[in-house]
Amino acid sequence: SLPKFVKIVEVGPRDGLQNEKEIVPTSVKVELIKMLVSSGLPVVEATSFVSPKWVPQLADAKDVMSAIQGIGHSRFPVLTPNLKGFEAAMAAGAKEVAIFASASESFSRSNINCSIEDSLARYRDVALAAENHKIPVRGYISCVVGCPVEGAVPPSKVAYVAEELINMGCAEISLGDTIGVGTPGTVIPMLEAVLDVVPIEKLAVHFHDTYGQALSNIMLSLQMGISVVDSSISGLGGCPYAKGASGNVATEDVVYMLNGLGVKTDVDLGKLILAGDYISKHLGRPSGSKAAIALSRT
Ligand code: HMG
Ligand code: MG
Repeated sequence: SLPKFVKIVEVGPRDGLQNEKEIVPTSVKVELIKMLVSSGLPVVEATSFVSPKWVPQLADAKDVMSAIQGIGHSRFPVLTPNLKGFEAAMAAGAKEVAIFASASESFSRSNINCSIEDSLARYRDVALAAENHKIPVRGYISCVVGCPVEGAVPPSKVAYVAEELINMGCAEISLGDTIGVGTPGTVIPMLEAVLDVVPIEKLAVHFHDTYGQALSNIMLSLQMGISVVDSSISGLGGCPYAKGASGNVATEDVVYMLNGLGVKTDVDLGKLILAGDYISKHLGRPSGSKAAIALSRT
């Protein structure tokens, strides 16, 4: 049976925008976040406290955070790759952070410039600092089924990283198919391996829709009992360090499917579509959400 409620973690302002070449003005990011909040989304990942040399688009993290303080009732986690980022996030008023490891050695090096083991050591420091501040930490794992360099990634590798992240105190583990290559054929064995080490209520799924497999993979995740789904408004997204990674699954499409299944999300699809229209118009391209395009014709 399916979960009665699914928590949607909106990653558009972070994962969606991080790969955009043209710098989006801070005021547009803030307006987008306000619109996402008003649609009822419980969690909106707002930005990243990463090196501005690595991700120039999110160099205004501090300004975004100060502009959204006190808006609505949503939570605004931010990505922190190291203690420097964690401290900057705390100074900017963040109340939740996310760390991001990889199940693939090559991707770890290209994304955060270190090995998996070195990243885990770094993240232990961040997790400890977060515990001292009573700040919840989400742990991402990238390349959970495939890596742009190494190809297929073994489920045991994903389970290993997941267990390390749980042991350092992560409240939630988000499993990222960074390059969107997974199908139910590869996602099911990966989830089974992770479920041996992580309780189901702590798991989230994060699918990119590069090969059009995201909704199928989300459906099977729900059937396996997972009730936290990451998605991005209008299907924006892609990782600057994962060649060929296209957008995340569109939040509008996920909400449309969940509405059809009778699964509650507390998200208003109409208001969500307005947020998608706003950012798509700003970026000057059509929405990546099929549901949003179809509904705007009717
Ligand atoms: P590095 O170059 O190895 O770092 O980068 P370093 O410690 O040697 O420092 C180099 C410079 O960066 C120094 O400045 C530091 O101060 C500065 P300089 O002395 O040269 O002027 N620096 C920082 N500045 C601001 N904030 C910081 C910070 N840390 C160092 N936190 C580092 C290592 C991890 C910092 C870098 O590789 C980085 O920022 N990577 C982030 C990459 C990223 O954001 N990728 C996208 C997110 S992950 C993703 O999209 C996948 C996900 O969606 C799930 C999925 O789809 O699978 C989550
Ligand atoms: Mg992602």
